[in-house]
Amino acid sequence: MKVVAVKNFEEMSQFAAAMISYQVKEKPNSVLGLATGGTVVGTYKELIKDHGQNKTSYENIHTVNLDEYLGIEKDHPNSYHHFMMDNLFSHINITKDNIHIPDGLATDYEEESKKYEKVISDLGGVDLQLLGIGVNGHIGFNEPGTPFQSVTHVVELEESTRQANMRFFNSIEEVPTHAITMGISTIMKSKKILLLVSGKTKADILEKVINKDITERIPATVLKNHPDVTIIADEEALSLVDDEKKRGFDRDKKEFTSTYLLSN
Ligand code: F6R
Repeated sequence: MKVVAVKNFEEMSQFAAAMISYQVKEKPNSVLGLATGGTVVGTYKELIKDHGQNKTSYENIHTVNLDEYLGIEKDHPNSYHHFMMDNLFSHINITKDNIHIPDGLATDYEEESKKYEKVISDLGGVDLQLLGIGVNGHIGFNEPGTPFQSVTHVVELEESTRQANMRFFNSIEEVPTHAITMGISTIMKSKKILLLVSGKTKADILEKVINKDITERIPATVLKNHPDVTIIADEEALSLVDDEKKRGFDRDKKEFTSTYLLSN
């Protein structure tokens, strides 16, 4: 895994957006795997800015989102469909038919999961997958204990996940109890993975992901098995990681060479 240490949320967002728009320009028909949540909002803002200023085109880009809550209408303000339209899709020139998000209202979830896997494989797989991380180490909504070989499936959300996501709802009762998510093996098939981590609340889990052995109890540790993972983490998120490991980061120059490599 390559870890890029940046100063704060803004720098993380700028760096992530630079990597994504580079991918889009290099391969204009890329398949982007996208995430929702607070961590990625700044990245999407930067992409919208770049689209406006530099005319980066998404016309032939396909997107597949990681997950969706179960039992929520697409146009519900807290659905991930709504989040994506609001925070990114309605501000760029993406072709509507090229957007894929699991259907949280499907009548047959097993069928929907299979269909979603087929959508991804028919597209030739994900070129660049953007990820956030839960305080419990989840990626997508793959909660601790999810088998690494899992494909798209329905999950029961952990209490800590529902509590963390309560900030987007009026009360804990309104936070859905289940979601449909890409599986860990689905995520791991992506050609490149970009994990964003920001803020003090993620410091504990980031330290574990970096320093602990690979275990299904901490889903994100699986990323150590992937050949092309970049973690972009800010100062607060990296506050529990050894300074030794941060050596080489030139904060004044803010150079992208300020990365360090961690061996698996
Ligand atoms: C969202 C997703 C989740 C979030 C994670 C972090 O599509 O799959 O894994 O990335 O829960 O959420 P935030 O960014 O809100 O802290």
